[in-house]
Amino acid sequence: MQERQTIRCDHGWNIRVVDETDSTNDALKRQLDAPHGTVLIARRQTGGRGRLGRQFLSPPGGLYLSVLLRPQVPSDQLLHLTPMTAVAVRRAISDCCGVRTEIKWTNDLVFGGRKLCGILTELNCREGSLQSVIVGVGINCNTDIASLDPSVSSMATSLAQIVGHRVEEDALASAVIFRLQQMDATLLTQKAAWMKEYAAACITVGRQVQILCGGERRQAFAEGIDENGGLLVRYENGETAAVTAGEVSVRGMYGYL
Ligand code: BTN
Repeated sequence: MQERQTIRCDHGWNIRVVDETDSTNDALKRQLDAPHGTVLIARRQTGGRGRLGRQFLSPPGGLYLSVLLRPQVPSDQLLHLTPMTAVAVRRAISDCCGVRTEIKWTNDLVFGGRKLCGILTELNCREGSLQSVIVGVGINCNTDIASLDPSVSSMATSLAQIVGHRVEEDALASAVIFRLQQMDATLLTQKAAWMKEYAAACITVGRQVQILCGGERRQAFAEGIDENGGLLVRYENGETAAVTAGEVSVRGMYGYL
């Protein structure tokens, strides 16, 4: 992991930029004593990871960024962290390029039914108490979508593709960091406002969804978002639930609308 630059910015966050690493989340996991606000940006990742153990393809042109935070609360009070991050990154993309993205529950930013950004938040607990969280964000900025495997490219887009020209990756990184700092500063005090924005941007709401949980697949209708970013669903038998874990697959998403 060859270091390119270290930037110290407002709010005391430390930002390091490297050409390559396996995964910015994993690199921060190897330095769990790092202070609150340690940011790592990589130009490419060789082992980028997504949710549920999936691979996250990370060729040059994308923005791969993780930040280590130390919220002073128990982990069960951070259920809204991933949805709040989605709102922060959505704001940053709008600030930087004027692109209005939508949110596919729980952690994807999409445009025109195609994936633009994924978010992976990971908690580090010791003896039951929360030590730190790592928030990882991967954005297809100038990614050459056509060069990706067809199974991925058919469902993905990039900012450059949307706006029709190259988007400066450092400008996007600055915008993302600014909005993540805003999120961090209001994490425990303005949750309701952020979740309202999340619900308004979430295209999963109002659709038929398939809930995949523990090997079981159930049909449901997504009715709304709860105060922690959970998906409120109504099953075919009339039963309702707030889905917070497992996987929700949305029928008709990603290029099949
Ligand atoms: C997903 O789509 O399921 C989440 C993808 C998260 C990707 C980002 S890129 C920066 C950070 N490092 C990783 O290995 N993953 C996250």
